[in-house]
Amino acid sequence: MAEFDVIVIGAGPGGYVCAIRCAQLGLKTAVVEGRETLGGTCLNVGCIPSKALLHASHCLHDAEHNFEKMGLKVAAPKVDWKQMLAYKDEVIGQNTKGIEFLFKKNKITWLKGWGSIPAAGKVKVGDEVHEAKNIVIATGSEPSSLPGVTVDEKVVVTSTGALELGKIPKEMVVIGAGVIGLELGSVYARLGTKVTVVEFLDAITPGMDGEVQKTFQRLLKRQGLTFIMGAAVQGAAVKGGKAKVTYKLRKDDSEATLDADCVLVATGRKPYTDGLGLEALGVEMEKRGQIKTDDHWRTNVKGLYAIGDAIVGPMLAHKAEDEGMAVAEVIAGKHGHVNYNVIPGVIYTAPEVATVGKTEEQLKEEGRAYKVGKFAFMGNGRAKAVFQGDGFVKLLADKETDRILGAHIIGPAAGDLIHEICVGMEFGASAEDIALTCHAHPTFSEAVREAALACGDGPIHS
Ligand code: FAD
Ligand code: NAI
Repeated sequence: MAEFDVIVIGAGPGGYVCAIRCAQLGLKTAVVEGRETLGGTCLNVGCIPSKALLHASHCLHDAEHNFEKMGLKVAAPKVDWKQMLAYKDEVIGQNTKGIEFLFKKNKITWLKGWGSIPAAGKVKVGDEVHEAKNIVIATGSEPSSLPGVTVDEKVVVTSTGALELGKIPKEMVVIGAGVIGLELGSVYARLGTKVTVVEFLDAITPGMDGEVQKTFQRLLKRQGLTFIMGAAVQGAAVKGGKAKVTYKLRKDDSEATLDADCVLVATGRKPYTDGLGLEALGVEMEKRGQIKTDDHWRTNVKGLYAIGDAIVGPMLAHKAEDEGMAVAEVIAGKHGHVNYNVIPGVIYTAPEVATVGKTEEQLKEEGRAYKVGKFAFMGNGRAKAVFQGDGFVKLLADKETDRILGAHIIGPAAGDLIHEICVGMEFGASAEDIALTCHAHPTFSEAVREAALACGDGPIHS
């Protein structure tokens, strides 16, 4: 008899959530994790530490720009960088220990070390080989490299190095205006660093609603970030602790250089499957390095599943978690389901940016008849009271049926507001359903209702 019903490889949000659900469903479960702490990229070097630094630097911004307006007289705030990093590490520790507690509570065995799969149904950790009826690969992703740019995690860093720099840099070049570049770029801009973002495309945050992209870039510029758009980075040379970044403008092939004491490479992430032995096992892969699965997260090898950043789809913690829960249900003989049409995406800058469903550009491309309801936070009393009147809610609904097709929010608490729309979309709601729902006053979410009203007879406060 196999030692375990399920062995999960990797304890990120995909893997640990999968293991907890497996255990709750009565399956004897183990997790292999090579890191010293549980929680994967997300808890150790991703979502959680970046949000801690975003919070701390936002508090600084508030103290510098808004305190006096509210009659709060304090001495000019100073940054104790070591303490800020210690706070961030404390937050990481609390979260990773929390997962350890949950593992104990659910009687999940942590097999410490790096795992490989020597044969179907077998997982090797160190010198020991364990047997399992089912194996779930949840090994996540790693930063992708850029030709001509060598990461040393000191001067030229990925997000991992950017979360623990020895000191706050004077000048930082961020390569890539995606989620990581803009979140961490805005952290350092608030801490006083001169941040220049070099982006290959002509718009920031590729794939996002065009109007949101434009407003977002304008607001980030106002916060001091500089953008060089349509520029392909050619290389970064490091000498005496300083970097020289070379880029080529796509429009005329002209070359230019930027000096910086820190370069953040944020040009995407790629699946991490090194050392698992997938090739020898004959596991089918996608062209871009992800593990190929069917719609029940099964690979082509019997009893072998894969989830999270290691497979196709948005590289988001909540997508990995949802797949973790769903695959556990499948393994336990139940129905596991993930609705890939309703996965929100959030950027935790100030203001936050949140999006779900189709963008206006996608609807146009599909030739679908739609209507737009928009409401600016300037018309929201609560937002104005807390200096957060920038941005808007944009709702897209089917022209005929009024069914909500997508929502794009830039503004205060956008990452929380979006879930009203997510729930609505799961229930097949119309814009009118949101518009007819009483929303408490004064809340930011009134702006969502006003956008829904704008899909019909019109908003009240604009
Ligand atoms: P991971 O979290 O990468 O976990 C995989 C784990 O597997 C790792 O701990 C690794 O050590 C382990 N592992 C790998 N191979 C082996 C092996 N052979 N044996 C044993 N263990 C192994 N997403 C959001 O939704 N919201 C955010 O705010 C957000 N912020 C982010 C900020 C940053 C800076 C970064 C880098 C990412 C962020 N993400 C965010 C993305 C998010 O972290 C990932 O989508 C998520 O962690 C993926 O989960 P996962 O379980 O698939 O893999
Ligand atoms: P990304 O894919 O979001 O952005 C990469 C950017 O780099 C793109 O705009 C791309 O055009 C640009 N680029 C690529 N090559 C370039 C070059 N040579 N020169 C200049 N620009 C170049 O990737 P990012 O920001 O590294 O994030 C990786 C993943 O992590 C994302 O998939 C994201 O989902 C996840 N993440 C999520 C967060 C969240 O949900 N809040 C926060 C941070 C990361």
